[in-house]
Amino acid sequence: MDVRPDDLPDGLVIANGAGRVVCFNTAAVRLTGRQHHEALGSPLQAALPLEDLDGRRWWQLTDPYGGPAIRNGHPERNLLLPGGHEVLVAARYVRQRPRGPVERVVVTLRGTEARRRTERSHAELIATVAHELRSPLTSVKGFTATLLAKWERFTDDQKRLMLETVDADANRVTRLIAELLDISRIDSGRLEVRRQRLDIAAAVRRHVEGHIAAGQPAERFAPRIADGLPDLWADPDKIDQVLANLLENAVRHGEGTVTIEVEPAASPREPGEKATAVTVSDEGPGIPEESMSRVFTRFWRGSRRGGTGLGLYIVKGIVEAHGGVITVDRAPAGGARFRFILPVGAPAVLA
Ligand SMILES: Nc1ncnc2c1ncn2[C@@H]1O[C@H](COP(=O)(O)OP(=O)(O)OP(=O)(O)O)[C@@H](O)[C@H]1O
Ligand SMILES: [Mg+2]
Repeated sequence: MDVRPDDLPDGLVIANGAGRVVCFNTAAVRLTGRQHHEALGSPLQAALPLEDLDGRRWWQLTDPYGGPAIRNGHPERNLLLPGGHEVLVAARYVRQRPRGPVERVVVTLRGTEARRRTERSHAELIATVAHELRSPLTSVKGFTATLLAKWERFTDDQKRLMLETVDADANRVTRLIAELLDISRIDSGRLEVRRQRLDIAAAVRRHVEGHIAAGQPAERFAPRIADGLPDLWADPDKIDQVLANLLENAVRHGEGTVTIEVEPAASPREPGEKATAVTVSDEGPGIPEESMSRVFTRFWRGSRRGGTGLGLYIVKGIVEAHGGVITVDRAPAGGARFRFILPVGAPAVLA
């Protein structure tokens, strides 16, 4: 197959055995700002006047044509173009036979914006995580230090209250760390889905009962389970996490009746594949139109009652790891409506 240099997403510069540029593709033009016709035929060091971060001329320093004949290039480096413009540069010195003369120098160039962007988002993530961990830990530290220093001066009730706060804060930290581990698995594509036969209707009923047992009035929940649900194969623990999050959000951020509908649906990935849709809606204030695109991003929280804002990010990651989709819109009664669709995911032997 015939690949044209201009089709490559990265910059490509090739110099011949005499050190003259014979190829300078479109991406190289874009990254260097140097015109195609200026570059072609000129010496490599003139067409691509790179410097290292200490301001030394790169081609003089590395001397691809003159240096030791065992070298075959250099791995990706961060180098500078005139004007201090950063590029990631890798090179191969092509020799016809081992230790023979260099016949071609092939250089690839990449912009640094994408890497910068991920670096920045990592830095932001770390800052947020540090902040989220600090507030419960500050309280744990404060109460334990106080108790240790003045144990005799507090009544049993006061001590109990402080220990309860410490206990709750320790739980918060543990939960946050569990969520962060989920996030790192989601982000790196390592979230494992262990599929089993799953009775999602029973799972929904179990979650509703849990909320009622924890003190919510039974009228607050309206589970509606349709007939004819397909057999579903999914990871029970992970789907529990999804249901727990959506129901908790509806109870905590929403108001009124929480309706949970489970029904057969069309699969989002393959025509003809069966799927199950679960819709959780409430009658609260809902999510403002302009924020809907942001609810599934990490650390986004809308209201004062917000937690860490990781819940929906994890929910989306889990649903997508199952090959499903999740969407949000407004319920007829005005509140938020979340709907996720899971393809049946039957193991190949049964399909
Ligand atoms: N049913 C709902 N009604 C109104 N707002 C909601 C609803 N569900 C979620 N939200 C808004 O979306 C935000 C993000 O939800 P998410 O579950 O990701 O985080 P959280 O509930 O704040 O914290 P966490 O789930 O990590 O404890 C919430 O802070 C809330 O403002
Ligand atoms: Mg939540």
